[in-house]
Amino acid sequence: MRIEKLGKAPFRHNLPTDHVAATERDASSRNSSSIDCVALGGMLVLVLAVVANDVRAADRPLERPETVTAKHGMVVSVSSPATEVGVAILKRGGNSVDAAVGVALALAVTYPQAGNIGGGGFMMVHPSDGRPPMCVEYRETAPASAHRDTFSLKDNRLGHKVVGVPGTLRGLELAHKTYGKLTWAELAVPAEKLARDGFALDHAVADSLNESLKSEATRPFKAFHLAFGRTDQRDWKAGDVLKQPDLAKTLALIAKHGADAFYHGPIAGQIVAEMRTGRGLITADDLRNYRAKLRQPIRGTFHGFDIYGPPPPSSGGICLVQMLNVLEQFPLKKHDRYSAQTLHLMVESMRRAYLDRARHLGDADFVKIPPHLITKDYAKKLAASIDAERATSSEELATDIPLAEEPPSTTHFSVMDSSGMAVSNTYTLEQSFGSRVVVRGAGFLLNNEMGDFNWKAGHTDRRGRIGTPANLIAPGKRMLSSQTPTIVARDGKPVLVTGSPGGRTIINTVLCMVVNVTLFDMTLEEAMAAPRLHHQWLPDEVRFESTGDAIYADVVAKLRKLGHKVNPKSAQQGDAHSILRDSSTGELHGVADTRRSGKAAGF
Ligand code: DON
Repeated sequence: MRIEKLGKAPFRHNLPTDHVAATERDASSRNSSSIDCVALGGMLVLVLAVVANDVRAADRPLERPETVTAKHGMVVSVSSPATEVGVAILKRGGNSVDAAVGVALALAVTYPQAGNIGGGGFMMVHPSDGRPPMCVEYRETAPASAHRDTFSLKDNRLGHKVVGVPGTLRGLELAHKTYGKLTWAELAVPAEKLARDGFALDHAVADSLNESLKSEATRPFKAFHLAFGRTDQRDWKAGDVLKQPDLAKTLALIAKHGADAFYHGPIAGQIVAEMRTGRGLITADDLRNYRAKLRQPIRGTFHGFDIYGPPPPSSGGICLVQMLNVLEQFPLKKHDRYSAQTLHLMVESMRRAYLDRARHLGDADFVKIPPHLITKDYAKKLAASIDAERATSSEELATDIPLAEEPPSTTHFSVMDSSGMAVSNTYTLEQSFGSRVVVRGAGFLLNNEMGDFNWKAGHTDRRGRIGTPANLIAPGKRMLSSQTPTIVARDGKPVLVTGSPGGRTIINTVLCMVVNVTLFDMTLEEAMAAPRLHHQWLPDEVRFESTGDAIYADVVAKLRKLGHKVNPKSAQQGDAHSILRDSSTGELHGVADTRRSGKAAGF
């Protein structure tokens, strides 16, 4: 189902080579009915099944993206038990923020790669009571003793030193105090129960745990092995039950005493003790002084839709709005969604936005962010600088930045309730399982978010390391993020809730989702299945999920002819668990992205 039925979507799915003939027929005869996407979705199972990626074994079938339709509430997250916690909260009369708090705490148990209480993130809220959309910002901060020379480029990105002061619990507390209806304990107890009684692992978590437990990088982290390893030494498999008794105790304290237990109660003591064992930087004062913030979202418009994204310290809102503004300058709908022209214009807008990201963006409490970046006038200038016949060179575009010579995981979830209140939340430990430091006795992982700062002043290179001033480390400063939980609204009501993990690819995954749904009139299921595209200024290369597929060979060849360096490997991009509200029927459509795992459920 589309936001409204606007006609035929000029778009083709990512299909395998041996289905090309059938696909061409399907594509030429297809109309906008949802029956098409069921048939094509079935084929998508085959395509995705042959694409290996780091979090999903290639030898087992992937589920196709599937639309779940409901009237009263919807939750879509990477983890089935966490989605169920959210739906149960909505059914008990909780609103979207209540459900989001419950889901976030549950994910800290059921999706330890990224779900967390030891990390940070961004929660976009679109209330339904007339209050304006808001961003609950709970990004980690640099400890007070950190400074611009704390790290060298050779430093390990795991371990105690790279942990930023966690923001998640202060953020969830702030969201709950500002918007919640149910009691805090009601929202925290389901997570405590999941940790104590255990939950059945799905393939994604089992595979990811096995990979991490075996990796050389994780070897030094004994508490990680104790918390997540098996006593019988065999691999985890789907269906095995993981119990986390230490984490259950921590969550019981949090359920009873709230976030204070973490920031200046017994858990704070455990964190500081853990820091001392590994020369970490976080002190009791750092924890006590941490504050989550309510911030005005970045607002843009795109062909009549309102776009709300997170402000700095995320680059997501500004870059997304900037790219949409540039794309609005072109008659994109004249071309097919997957024509070389459309992809070229998307890549060129990405290149320019990511350059501005490197040039200007950082924590707005520390650096001045130029306001022109999201204006339509600036977009016109950028659009005028795009050559329709030729890729711009990233290096030539940025002569002001001297040139010297990201893996999973984050997670995103979306919630909508019967009142129309929407929550779009992305949070992270930075890499999969963060710093790998498990706080001993407390059972939770700490982030390695300090890696999101620019580590070496002046060192910007073609590999994509950035050394510009805006995002250098300073005490108490928040590191720049790409997290882009987004709410698209029309006439004051949310119509699309989306976001994704994927480091710097996040903003472009969201761009693809927004363009697919709002401009190319795709159903949510189609938008989810559609191959994604990424360019981040440096390295100067295009990543396209379907580079290797025969049906895109012509388009890829044309992009190369225009001068784009298209990466020959087509890795999967993002994991965009999303909700779309059909404004004609009021129905909610939830689709879990199948690139990792996930579940949409509603009632
Ligand atoms: O905040 C950020 O932009 C990064 N720490 C996100 C990392 C990430 O998405 C990795 N996951 N896939």
